[in-house]
Amino acid sequence: MFDVGRIRADFPILHEAINGHPLAYLDNAASYQHPRTVIEAISRYYEHDHANVHRGVHTLSHRATEAQERGREAARRLLNARSVREIVFTRGTTEAINLVAATLGQSLRPGDEILISHMEHHSNIVPWQLVCERSSARLVVVPINDRGEILLDEYHRLLSERTRLVAMAHVSNALGTVNPVAAIVAAARQRNIPVLLDGAQAVAHQRVDVRALDCDFYAFSGHKMCGPTGIGVLYGREEWLQRLPPYQGGGDMILSVSFSGTVYNELPYRFEAGTPHVAGAVGLGAAIEYLEAVGLERIEHYEAGLLAYATEAIGAVSGVRIIGQAAHKAGVVSFTVDGIHPHDLGTVLDHQGVAIRTGHHCAMPVMERFGLAGTARASFAFYNTTAEIDRLVAALAVARRMLQP
Ligand SMILES: Cc1ncc(COP(=O)(O)O)c(C=O)c1O
Repeated sequence: MFDVGRIRADFPILHEAINGHPLAYLDNAASYQHPRTVIEAISRYYEHDHANVHRGVHTLSHRATEAQERGREAARRLLNARSVREIVFTRGTTEAINLVAATLGQSLRPGDEILISHMEHHSNIVPWQLVCERSSARLVVVPINDRGEILLDEYHRLLSERTRLVAMAHVSNALGTVNPVAAIVAAARQRNIPVLLDGAQAVAHQRVDVRALDCDFYAFSGHKMCGPTGIGVLYGREEWLQRLPPYQGGGDMILSVSFSGTVYNELPYRFEAGTPHVAGAVGLGAAIEYLEAVGLERIEHYEAGLLAYATEAIGAVSGVRIIGQAAHKAGVVSFTVDGIHPHDLGTVLDHQGVAIRTGHHCAMPVMERFGLAGTARASFAFYNTTAEIDRLVAALAVARRMLQP
């Protein structure tokens, strides 16, 4: 049984009052809230185990190293990666993508192409624009249809002998579309083209198996899955990570340094220069353990129910247009209300304790595709309830009365 009441009791912040109302937190695509186990794991680490990692012979340094590596093993388990050598800690999805862009990007030549989709988050657009500028490679964009789905025929047409990498969202943050990543990867692999999947919006919502997906890189952020900010993961297939040049130079990424040359460390440390975010890795590990205990299959099933309920309830509000109606969606409802600016809507909702995101959601090309400056977006986690969706709908009615001309 999925007992959402019991789950909610694990999240202290869900019991906050906001502007005199109980909080209805429906901004999970931006960042998740944290169960007590994650908060306690981080404070336990600082109270009992903190020191620098890999550097000391003393007990605390060993404890800190072990704590960090437990987080890495949890991330390996979450993704079903073959080895912890394939799990690189980063600051988040953004840095993970930048890491691939900065390293793999060094081999790009004029005329080479990077293939992305029209629904990418800015963090899966701008890093590629930067490397394309430097190398005179070309950024090629796969179009989407009016429901917000990738046009697979176009994808197949645009894949070519010039394509050096396919970089696509697993799940779109702005539309909620779950992309057909298995088909995307299979077509690229036939041509020996590596694939990076941006999993920022996927890992907390469904079981992800990088071996089954057969992708070469997979990126996600801790804070979008009940973990802390400032920590994320780049999964890289070991053969790929072995081939890539170092990302940043500094301590921990080396085996030996002399002025005549430096020998780089083994994987994954070769990509982790400097003192890492140890407490972040600890919190990430605790978040993964929490998600595993709830069960990702059960989370996916429960959230599908929330999405269906919200799509119907929000869609029934007069003047609402839902943006993103893909056949396969995760728990995101992006919408506009006739005659009301999304920011005004968000402000009125906040006064009633309902937290949603408004604006372009760091996906301006998607907004442009739909002829919009922005949308309001409700995004769900497994700790949300249909009662919170009812509160959102009631708050929309208030906003319409107040704001519609
Ligand atoms: C699909 C997607 N990719 C990338 C990111 C960037 O994540 P972060 O800011 O944690 O690096 C986000 C954040 O909203 C996202 O939704």
